[in-house]
Amino acid sequence: MTDITRDHARFRSMIDGTQEDWDIIAREQKAFAPQNGRRILDHLKLLGGDYGGFPVDRLEHCLQTATRAHRDGRDEEYVVMALLHDIGDTLGAFNHPDVAAAILKPFLTEENLWIVQHHGIFQGHYFFHYLGLDRDMRDQFKDSPYYDACAEFCEKYDAPAFDPDYDSEPLEFFEPMVMRICSYPKSSIYKKVMTAEAAE
Ligand SMILES: [Fe+2]
Ligand SMILES: [Fe+2]
Repeated sequence: MTDITRDHARFRSMIDGTQEDWDIIAREQKAFAPQNGRRILDHLKLLGGDYGGFPVDRLEHCLQTATRAHRDGRDEEYVVMALLHDIGDTLGAFNHPDVAAAILKPFLTEENLWIVQHHGIFQGHYFFHYLGLDRDMRDQFKDSPYYDACAEFCEKYDAPAFDPDYDSEPLEFFEPMVMRICSYPKSSIYKKVMTAEAAE
């Protein structure tokens, strides 16, 4: 039986873990996991004030991308995807779409995840040629069922989201959406545990 007064497992090596240890860890995880969306929002805030030479800072770019998607009638998951598509900018200077995709993978449909993963190459259509790169690099994916969706995301929402005069919604507007979408996984090896906890 679990000692409810304890808040730490006793093992020094996980090899020696016991049921009681893991009951304690599972109890802690039960409180921690539903705040996943909160931690994602906190990390997104790190993009504020970071311009990198762009006309708006990276947080405003995210808010503007999401606002444009929302006002165009996109569903909640798509809007959250739009909001967070560049969350990898702070940790992934060389592969920011991969970082965002890793964070969002449990919460998105296959199509929305594909958009996040590939938006960098598709967005490159609008600037790679200024850097000596091939602006049609995205053509390598022309057989993908998600090619058009990713191209549309960049054309309608991501590429236009650098306007300093656009009236983007504030981050608070999107917070409930992020909390709903990013607190319980659609897919994860832990989904069985998380679903049981959500039902309690
Ligand atoms: Fe990006
Ligand atoms: Fe972007």
